[in-house]
Amino acid sequence: MKTLTIANQKGGVGKSAIACQLTYYIALKLGKSILFIDFDHQQNSTNRFKEGKIAEISSVESNKILTDSHVELEDSNFLVLSGNYDILIDLEKAGEEKRDTYVQNLYQFIQDNSENFDYCIIDTNPSPDIRQLSALMTSDFLLSPIQPNSEALEGLSRLLTHPEIGLKNIQENVNTGLEFIGLLPNLHDLKKVRQNEKLKELIETYPDLMIKVGRKFPSIKNRAALSDAQDEGIPIWMLSKGRGRIHWSEIKPIFDKIIKKMGAK
Ligand SMILES: Nc1ncnc2c1ncn2[C@@H]1O[C@H](COP(=O)(O)OP(=O)(O)OP(=O)(O)O)[C@@H](O)[C@H]1O
Ligand SMILES: [Mg+2]
Repeated sequence: MKTLTIANQKGGVGKSAIACQLTYYIALKLGKSILFIDFDHQQNSTNRFKEGKIAEISSVESNKILTDSHVELEDSNFLVLSGNYDILIDLEKAGEEKRDTYVQNLYQFIQDNSENFDYCIIDTNPSPDIRQLSALMTSDFLLSPIQPNSEALEGLSRLLTHPEIGLKNIQENVNTGLEFIGLLPNLHDLKKVRQNEKLKELIETYPDLMIKVGRKFPSIKNRAALSDAQDEGIPIWMLSKGRGRIHWSEIKPIFDKIIKKMGAK
């Protein structure tokens, strides 16, 4: 099982939308077995999957795999561990002293399921707390959606160099196997000159951290099709009247690159 965490401490950049759509792609188009874990108390992904009624929602909620040392899952090829608002918030409050236990439990859970699924995708909350840290400490890969604007660029240094949860610290000290798939610009509005400038700046400053397809640094455009698909809880290519066709043709090569990078390990 290849485990991918989707994280960025910046909120609203499309972590959940990309996590859900990538999960659908892997499950439905590639025919691979997949486990989705929602660690976000906001439950955005959980609610989307419930709405879509395509994935099986597990009776096990995501908090269990942090707090319990042994968790039994349903036998399924496409399973979602939903987030529970109250319990996840409480876990966060539990704080430092529980950290080692949570990480150990999650690590064990991933080991126990290593033969049960081809992929595991973890959606995280946008704050550097114990849930995000546990995910980063136990994953094989990290993908970070980012919006091309000044705030995102300013927040990037936290993503990379935050003393505890920054990529540099994680890779050097706690999970040396964590591979950074890259920064994925999302919600890119081509008509906004400032956004185009910021994206250019991002690419010039961090060329090695950006996802590259061929010779290009792609972005996911801001299009109603993606938010509509998310609203309905379905894959973008299943939108009625082919409404997602153009956007899907832009996104698919990016998803293929992400999967290729995970396959190479
Ligand atoms: N490329 C896109 N085009 C149009 N809408 C998008 C796109 N990406 C995401 N959205 C929409 O933007 C909103 C925020 O996205 P999403 O919830 O995925 O962000 P997030 O990073 O998970 O937020 P949070 O940090 O709160 O968890 C959602 O309504 C989502 O459907
Ligand atoms: Mg989210």
